[in-house]
Amino acid sequence: MLMVDDRPENLTALAALLSDMELDLELVSASSGNEALRQTLKGDFALVLLDVQMPQMDGLETAALLRANPKTRHLPIMFVTAGMQDNHHLFKGYESGAVDYLVKPIEPLVLRSKVRVFCELYAQRREIEFHKTHLETTVAERTAELTALTGRLREECGARAASEEAQRQLNEQLEQRVDARTDELRRAMDQIIESEKLASLGGIVAGVAHELNTPIGNIIMMSSALGDRMGELAKAVREGTLTKSALFAAVDDCLSATRILTHSASRAGEMIDSFKQVAVDQTSKRRRQFDLRETVHDILHTLGVVMRHAKVSHELRIAQGIRMDGCPGDLEQILSNLVMNSIRHGFGDSGGRIVIDAQRAGDKVEIVYQDNGVGIPPELHAKVFEPFYTTKLGQGGSGLGMFIVRNLAHGVLKGDIRLDSACGQGVKFTLTLPLVTP
Ligand SMILES: Nc1ncnc2c1ncn2[C@@H]1O[C@H](COP(=O)(O)OP(=O)(O)OP(=O)(O)O)[C@@H](O)[C@H]1O
Ligand SMILES: [Mg+2]
Repeated sequence: MLMVDDRPENLTALAALLSDMELDLELVSASSGNEALRQTLKGDFALVLLDVQMPQMDGLETAALLRANPKTRHLPIMFVTAGMQDNHHLFKGYESGAVDYLVKPIEPLVLRSKVRVFCELYAQRREIEFHKTHLETTVAERTAELTALTGRLREECGARAASEEAQRQLNEQLEQRVDARTDELRRAMDQIIESEKLASLGGIVAGVAHELNTPIGNIIMMSSALGDRMGELAKAVREGTLTKSALFAAVDDCLSATRILTHSASRAGEMIDSFKQVAVDQTSKRRRQFDLRETVHDILHTLGVVMRHAKVSHELRIAQGIRMDGCPGDLEQILSNLVMNSIRHGFGDSGGRIVIDAQRAGDKVEIVYQDNGVGIPPELHAKVFEPFYTTKLGQGGSGLGMFIVRNLAHGVLKGDIRLDSACGQGVKFTLTLPLVTP
């Protein structure tokens, strides 16, 4: 507490009045307004007890200067005055910034209780300030933490965005590579199917050529026999030795030779027709409307030699008038692969039997191919359709036949192929195809 009075005895009296208070009071004395101002600049006070009447600068002036300084603006001031207790002075005192007034002679109880109030206020203010600074530091600390955290988050977000972008680019590249590979594979598949087709066509050509040998051999033989007969007839006419019975015999021979010629020629013609259709279908991939029964008949006809050679008989149970629209070459390829497999894998030296059923089921057709060979154990059913699976490795098997069959049935004809077979009971392939290939 700062006490300001120009008279030292007054300061001593005040100090005596306050000395035995239970408050922890530090008393500072100043003997003039100027000194009081100096003291307030140096320290922090709970209250100023200010004498009004002082030489040079009086209490009112000192109070006005204290109020003008921002550091001391809120410093509580209590005037101590002896004779000027009239209202005029009282108001001037309050105007200049006093918060209270004490009039001499000072009543010790009043002074002490007022001082106590101001000291308590001061303590409370200090406490509030302490809390305020504490709060401010806490807020500042938290703000700094938050700023750091935001920075880290921003960095992490940046890093994540970068890695996501890298990932995206990688995915894009991968997709492109997969697409390119798929294209390559598709082209390779097409080539395999094409070369397989040509290979089986080569086999068919050899068979057909062999088959044509018989009717054409007959034709050659018959036409030369016919020529000889005609020569004999002409000679007899020239020499006038021709009898009526000889003429009839020659005419009979000619007629039967012509019948054999016609029969052989039409057999060869038929064979060439069937083969031509198969060959065109196989090589042109032309889409057309076709009769299922005729097409199956043609392909079995062109495989006739091979089948006879292997002692294979067959039965077609295909209803008349199942019209289909698509590429018959693909169906022929499937059937010829199935037949060749029955011969190579299913049947032994004593041959076997193949039955082909077909019936319409709505806008689909169900073709059932069966042989009575050795069959395929159930655990191998999935393997049979895999590329390069063969039980005839090194004996001419490449293991692509059934892979191609499934690809044609699924990929090209948009249908399905299923295998049912038990060991020793032959195979049963069920081929379901849309009547009109999409
Ligand atoms: N009718 C069948 N009877 C018994 N086994 C068969 C029959 N058809 C196929 N298989 C088995 O399925 C395997 C795979 O047949 P696929 O036609 O794919 O190959 P492949 O005939 O061995 O060789 P490729 O046809 O390429 O010359 C055959 O090796 C054979 O073991
Ligand atoms: Mg095969």
